[in-house]
Amino acid sequence: MSTVAVVGGTGPQGKGLAYRFARGGHDVILGSRDGGRAAQAADELAARLGGRGGTVTGAVNAEATTKAQVALLAVPFTGHDVLVASLAAELADKVVISCVNPIGFDRHGPHGLELGGTSAAETAQALLPDSAVVGAFHHLSAVSLNGDADLLDHEDVLVCGDDQEAKQTVMELAATITGKPGIDAGALRLARQLEPLTAVLISINKRYKVRSGLAIHGVSGS
Ligand SMILES: NC(=O)c1ccc[n+]([C@@H]2O[C@H](COP(=O)([O-])OP(=O)(O)OC[C@H]3O[C@@H](n4cnc5c(N)ncnc54)[C@H](OP(=O)(O)O)[C@@H]3O)[C@@H](O)[C@H]2O)c1
Repeated sequence: MSTVAVVGGTGPQGKGLAYRFARGGHDVILGSRDGGRAAQAADELAARLGGRGGTVTGAVNAEATTKAQVALLAVPFTGHDVLVASLAAELADKVVISCVNPIGFDRHGPHGLELGGTSAAETAQALLPDSAVVGAFHHLSAVSLNGDADLLDHEDVLVCGDDQEAKQTVMELAATITGKPGIDAGALRLARQLEPLTAVLISINKRYKVRSGLAIHGVSGS
């Protein structure tokens, strides 16, 4: 079991993933730009867990990432680069997970933002040359993560990255959410396809008034 820092852990996605990681036995530190906000979110989560699983504490982002072996970036794409760059020293030699979806909305609905041949995860990797960045958890909705289901076992977590060991760590972490390891989806550059795919899921959700997810058929053990 490792200690996982969640940068932006006061938001619905970070909090939802933190809840699942902690239920799975990992210690979690919710990070925030504001220590008080982090502590409040951690108290809420700890109360919900009622002593089950790992510990949940709160700290400012830099302190949270210093204390953890694995860090999850769960912040909006706006402001992402400045924040990530500011944490380069704290995140060095660590596994850094990005679930960041650069998505825009206009009169035609949701769409992936045009990033000029890169992705949020690759941008993070460029800003964090001494970290192993892995893309994962893009397609799990915060509502499901914060819901009451024991496991989101009807969904798969697609994991992309260039460091095989880091990817393996994240695939195992995914089992705390779906009950099975995440699926190795390939190199980090495939985040360019995985991140905007979320716009398709949001579009389906709006059209059918559902909360759609992603499941891959035909992979042994998935
Ligand atoms: N919501 C979902 O269902 C979902 C699903 C899949 C992936 N994602 C991705 O997960 C990430 C987080 O989503 P979310 O809905 O939880 O986002 P959010 O609520 O908008 O933001 C999460 C946290 O990020 C911090 N933050 C906000 N603006 C910031 C800035 N400019 N610089 C630094 N920190 C900032 C805030 O924490 P503090 O103010 O406490 O610092 C906030 O609570 C996004 O990239 C999103 O694309 C979301």
